[in-house]
Amino acid sequence: SRHKIAIVVGSLRKGSVNRRIALSIQSFASTTLECEIVEIGDLPLYNQDLDGEPPAAYVRFREAIAAAEGVLFVTPEYNRGVPGALKNAIDVGSRPYGASVWDKKPAAIVSASPGGIGGFGANHQLRQLCVFLNMPTMQQPEAYLGNVTDDKFDADGCLKEGPLKDVVVRIADAFAGWVGLILRGRAVIAE
Ligand code: FNR
Repeated sequence: SRHKIAIVVGSLRKGSVNRRIALSIQSFASTTLECEIVEIGDLPLYNQDLDGEPPAAYVRFREAIAAAEGVLFVTPEYNRGVPGALKNAIDVGSRPYGASVWDKKPAAIVSASPGGIGGFGANHQLRQLCVFLNMPTMQQPEAYLGNVTDDKFDADGCLKEGPLKDVVVRIADAFAGWVGLILRGRAVIAE
């Protein structure tokens, strides 16, 4: 049976290259993973005062992540760091204290940019968040996708044939393998 994966995209814009990379991975991994994009654009800024009476958007988001067997982050880099919308979503999912929906979920991080550095800074910040959140995060292949421009995609938003597509297919296959490994309990995760 296919593992259920929540994809969290760090960009809110319609024409996002990261969203299109996410949709491409959803398609390339479709025999092994059932990927669904969980939206983050409607989440109010995290406020601890709301822990007792959470907004509906927090509840919806937390339930969607909790129901997934793994999480794939696909994000741009903003000012060499994690975009605020994504950081906010991670904070929302991590609370109330002791009820983090991220805990123990196998994860992978993909960053994409039209620039040459491929979102390296955001990717590494996010990786460190995953350490703290106790998410066993795929180590290889690393996924810093540079020079990701509109011309790399077809009209349906899927990657065209080419070296970038080959890299992303490899990432998708490796992630499916990683999720399977973790869920079969072949790697030890701290309580
Ligand atoms: C950017 N961009 C950018 N790119 C990059 O490689 N490193 C960076 O630090 C930044 N910083 C940054 C800050 C802000 C506020 C914006 C809006 C943009 C450019 C960014 O990679 C580009 O806009 C991508 O197209 C954004 O990803 P999506 O929306 O296409 O997925």
